Amino acid sequence: MTVQLATTPWIEVAGDWLIVGLPEGFDLSGPVETLNVALGGQLSRLREAQDFTGKAAETVSLPAPPGIRAGRLLLVGLGPADKLTDAGLYKALLTAARFVSTKKTSRIAIAVPGPGASELTLARRVQIAATALTVGCVGQDLYRAEKKRFPFENLDLLVEPGQTTPELSKALETGTILGDSINLARELVNQPAKVIYPASFAQRAADLARQHALDCEILDQAALEAEKMGSLLAVSAGSDQPPRLVLLEYRGTGAKGPVLALIGKGVTFDSGGLSIKPNDSMLTMKCDMAGAATVLATMVAIARLKLPVRVMGVMGLVENLTGGSAMKLGDVLTARSGVTIEVQNTDAEGRLVLADVLDYAISKGADRLIDLATLTGACVVALGEDVVGAMTNNQPWCDKVLAGARAAGEDIWQLPMFGLYDELIKSDVADIRNVGGRWGGAITAAKFLERFVKDKPWVHLDIAGPAFASSDKPHREGGATGCMVRTLVEVVQSTGDRGPGTGDSAKT
Ligand code: BES
Ligand code: ZN
Ligand code: ZN
Repeated sequence: MTVQLATTPWIEVAGDWLIVGLPEGFDLSGPVETLNVALGGQLSRLREAQDFTGKAAETVSLPAPPGIRAGRLLLVGLGPADKLTDAGLYKALLTAARFVSTKKTSRIAIAVPGPGASELTLARRVQIAATALTVGCVGQDLYRAEKKRFPFENLDLLVEPGQTTPELSKALETGTILGDSINLARELVNQPAKVIYPASFAQRAADLARQHALDCEILDQAALEAEKMGSLLAVSAGSDQPPRLVLLEYRGTGAKGPVLALIGKGVTFDSGGLSIKPNDSMLTMKCDMAGAATVLATMVAIARLKLPVRVMGVMGLVENLTGGSAMKLGDVLTARSGVTIEVQNTDAEGRLVLADVLDYAISKGADRLIDLATLTGACVVALGEDVVGAMTNNQPWCDKVLAGARAAGEDIWQLPMFGLYDELIKSDVADIRNVGGRWGGAITAAKFLERFVKDKPWVHLDIAGPAFASSDKPHREGGATGCMVRTLVEVVQSTGDRGPGTGDSAKT
């Protein structure tokens, strides 16, 4: 898709669609009034008849509108002008993109919405529009002969003459890069386990690393054995697919600050192992590598954006099956760090993988960590399908991650890590066990991970709910969502290396 800024007046834009976003009770002034006049007063009539009020994500389409050059006009509501947020604008524009991408098009134009009474800068609105349009026109059509969604070929973002500054072009590029990365994460997660298994994921990571000049190291079964990753290897033992660990490293020009490690759970299929899942719970378990996909997609975005930071992405890739060599209940594993783990449920495998990956990342020089994992159903029970759970051993670091999510408009909620939860993962035969009993399951899983992060500031993001949507909504396709890519890029941007003496150290 080619995306560009354009200053053509709205009514003169040719192409298949013109998209115009308007707030609730919109004013008929400036270009909106010009459009209204060209349409013979259609906008005022729609407003008076309450057929289009500007309510959040409301859509009205006008085919072959007289007086304008575009083939069709889509009006999309932005909600109250004084409450326009990053998330609200993104959602409205995703809805618009999904609306107009159900048929093949060759050229789409969108008038970049005004700020209303909000503080969203023009650059921010351009960035949001570029991301939303890039993401919204891509569907789940990987294996459908009859496509339901048609990616845009050409997209014009309309701004006023004189507004096309280099800053705006940068915002357009950033928005497009974020959209591409979200789509990359979605594609990897939507692919079935037959296509994305540890070795094929690692190959894809290696290809992307080469393309975007990231350093890449891949550990195969023998290397993982040499690293004594007894916990990760135990999960992989029940599958014929050999495991992989992918380490990607990015060092922005001149960056000297602390090394951030992004860690991803990459269980390319989770059958539950011998503690096998019922059919309905297993149905979507190709999504259990969403953490790793998010890390890979974010590393690509960071490299393309050339951010002045040091970041490593570490992905633990295994398949959790029930083969003859599968780990069994009662097994005691020795993790890379030396901690011994009693296996009480083979379906609590994500934490076993992450235990070794976290430890490895620290030995490779990580100063602070964020892990992403579709880790527990309990987190979905606690927060619902659309909210990420955050858990930490370091409140200031967590606050930075929460601020990143706020800036990106992604929903996240912190869960407590009181010491009393540590009791729940004690084992009679080993240092710890891999389940914590019936209650507080999202937190006991995090407590388990905490045992492997030493004293490093660490945030665990449980994305079991938001990573994979069970159904379509007007603003999003069912299936993989690519959640947290924008948040992670915000976090990385806000913790960028600003040289010594800025107080931005590993301790903060
Ligand atoms: N991959 C699942 C968690 C999951 C659930 C992801 C729903 C996405 C949607 C994880 O490995 C798992 O099975 N966790 C168990 C842990 C339990 C055995 C302690 C769970 O949540 O039931
Ligand atoms: Zn599991
Ligand atoms: Zn799992």
